[in-house]
Amino acid sequence: MNDAQPLKSLEEWEDDLLRRYPDPESIAIGKSEEEFRNYDNPARDTVREFYRLNHTYQTYEFVLQKEAQYLTFDKKEMPVWDAFEFLNQLVDDSDPDTDLDQFQHLLQTSEAIRADGHPDWMVLTGLLHDMGKVLCLFGEPQWAVVGDTFPVGCAHSDRIVYPEFFAYNPDSKDERYNTKYGVYEPNCGLRNVHMSWGHDEYVYHMVKDYLPEPALYMLRYHSFYAQHREHAYDHLMDDHDREMFKWVKLFNPYDLYSKNPNPPDWPKLRPYYEDLVAKYLPATLKF
Ligand SMILES: [Fe+2]
Ligand SMILES: [Fe+2]
Repeated sequence: MNDAQPLKSLEEWEDDLLRRYPDPESIAIGKSEEEFRNYDNPARDTVREFYRLNHTYQTYEFVLQKEAQYLTFDKKEMPVWDAFEFLNQLVDDSDPDTDLDQFQHLLQTSEAIRADGHPDWMVLTGLLHDMGKVLCLFGEPQWAVVGDTFPVGCAHSDRIVYPEFFAYNPDSKDERYNTKYGVYEPNCGLRNVHMSWGHDEYVYHMVKDYLPEPALYMLRYHSFYAQHREHAYDHLMDDHDREMFKWVKLFNPYDLYSKNPNPPDWPKLRPYYEDLVAKYLPATLKF
């Protein structure tokens, strides 16, 4: 196994999120509690190793470098529909449990949002939210694509998962970056804060000219569990962020709890989604 790719598939990170934040409805009916609480799962070691790498190497400098490398969007250009096929190359067929590909997860998320009657741009947000995982196909290691995100350039909260691994991050010993506010001002607003690099920040920039602001917050901060679940970075947020995070919180359960063994009926759904994509997005997206 490639040292930088400890997870057998990207879903291992998401399965671990479900152990940390189990579906309150399943818990209530006593359905999957045992499974959620199973901490002896061998997958946990790979998740641990994944976070060791993530927390060690996601430095302020690293993030600035990745922003410069990817936010030029000069790598590839394709229709959204081709991009979903490109994304599906991430399916790992060595993993027998992964019978749902990336597109199925996106479609299940968007269908759950649609079933609850939310606005169509939020349905589209569900469909697009993990598009940034194409970073893997551009050769980025897992720890620079998925995982909980967190601000860089200031102290790491101990409410981020596996906080002990930040001891290996050189920023934790650099006095420019290891104070409460680091390079930032109190309540400066998240738009002024650099987040650890991954699929959230990438997809946000990819579509930021086409979707309403609540959608952009959902995309950009959907893996920022230290804030939307743990409230560890209130001191960097402004009032506008607080307002917009209501949307991020609304989105999160659709991402985590919409997984379902029955794949959606894509041929039947296709016309609706083709219209939806055409309504908001240009004919091609730049990567
Ligand atoms: Fe995601
Ligand atoms: Fe997701």
